[in-house]
Amino acid sequence: MGHASVPAGRALIPVKPASILVVDDERAVRVALEVNLSKAGHIVSLADSGARALDILRSQEVDVVLTDFMMPAMTGTDLLSRVKERWPLTQVVIMTGHGTVERAVEAMRVGAHDFVIKPVARAELLAILERAIRERNLHRQVARLQAQASERYAFENVIGSTPAMHRVYDQVRAVASSSAYVLLSGPTGTGKELIAHAIHHQSNRANGPFIQVNCGALPAGLLESELFGHEKGAFTGAIRQHKGKFEQADGGTLMLDELGEMPVETQVKLLRILESGRFQRVGGTTELQVDVRVVAATNRTLREEVQAGRFREDLYYRLNVFEIELPPLRERTEDIPLLVDHFVQHFATKHAKPVRSVADAAVSPLMSHSWPGNVRELEHVVERAVILSSGPTLDHFELPKTPQTPTNDSPSNGLPAEDQSIAEVLREAERQMVIRALEAENGVQARAARLLGVSRANLNYRIQKLGIQIKDIKFE
Ligand SMILES: Nc1ncnc2c1ncn2[C@@H]1O[C@H](COP(=O)(O)OP(=O)(O)OP(=O)(O)O)[C@@H](O)[C@H]1O
Ligand SMILES: [Mg+2]
Repeated sequence: MGHASVPAGRALIPVKPASILVVDDERAVRVALEVNLSKAGHIVSLADSGARALDILRSQEVDVVLTDFMMPAMTGTDLLSRVKERWPLTQVVIMTGHGTVERAVEAMRVGAHDFVIKPVARAELLAILERAIRERNLHRQVARLQAQASERYAFENVIGSTPAMHRVYDQVRAVASSSAYVLLSGPTGTGKELIAHAIHHQSNRANGPFIQVNCGALPAGLLESELFGHEKGAFTGAIRQHKGKFEQADGGTLMLDELGEMPVETQVKLLRILESGRFQRVGGTTELQVDVRVVAATNRTLREEVQAGRFREDLYYRLNVFEIELPPLRERTEDIPLLVDHFVQHFATKHAKPVRSVADAAVSPLMSHSWPGNVRELEHVVERAVILSSGPTLDHFELPKTPQTPTNDSPSNGLPAEDQSIAEVLREAERQMVIRALEAENGVQARAARLLGVSRANLNYRIQKLGIQIKDIKFE
């Protein structure tokens, strides 16, 4: 669109009345400014000190703070930094005497919008304020656009347009902006981790850290030091201070994954931090406080775990402020074609395959499969088909045999499959413990042995016996 015929001039876009807070310890200055600014159509509030100004800022929205530079107690620069910290969109204009111009210029470097020299000329002040208000509106618009973009980003990888998924999106939107705890429940592979990320990205903590802990992967002692950290020398092997996940997540979101598997001893400690916001590192005496939003996830029905005495009721109620239930894939089969397309594109790129389309006939059998592993299972089926494909069209998916044992339907119910002997189950449990200890200690066998409470030779024997490959260990 051409603006050529419109002469330049800022009067074209009228500035809407803005809310301006005047801060000055001199009454005469306050009164004069109030008269002048109200006449220009602005809404004016007055404060005689920085502290009073902060009170007002806390109770109402202010577009521009016009503050004196030299005031007893809190100076204009102090006020500036407090405002910029808490209300970054609010503009600050500094009024200064001739003697302090240089320092006022300095203040601009730390975020003041502009400064005016006292005694203030009315026209000049109004022009400066007008610019500040425009800038403030621009910032506000940018913030709004950013929020929209981050919402789009947050849901970018979440596929599904069935009513069941729309219910999930609505719940995510509703809860994201609060700092309420969220409980994500649903069978394995339904997207709990994906949704936890979406909640984080849509919250006002999006710029803070997103930290995840798997509560079922470690024995109680290790899990506690993982969550709360430990002090140097807290236990044998604690060779230096370690910041726990709660500390790492300060100002952000902590996802407590597989919450249903958390050892009962750890549940007690978790409850304490959730109730008070305070905790101590293992072996520490200092009380620490953090600002963390907890999103817990579980593929067990926690209510049943409570009834069975495996999960603390008080902790359950504390965390279950807002529950989002992820639907199993078989309850939203209409989403399957969308998911297939999404995964085909993703894996074709990843594996450099020329697949461009999927035959309808290949998709229909997918619609009637029961999908015990939900979206994760579908993802694997598609990936395999893409890898095996040779032409531009996928015309066949290989479905996993529908399992006969109930175990595979809920792989983490903790019960062994019927055809598994006790020895096999124990061996697998032992293997997992050894692997986790090695992972926790970054593969250092001496330390892993200490963690497990066995000698180094004993650990070595187990590694051999269980056929554990050091290359299978995930290092931090
Ligand atoms: N709605 C969805 N759209 C696209 N991908 C999805 C969706 N839901 C899940 N996935 C994909 O499926 C896989 C499993 O999802 P995720 O890890 O979030 O499941 P989960 O519910 O945490 O499972 P578990 O209980 O086993 O930990 C991931 O690769 C994820 O990207
Ligand atoms: Mg998960």
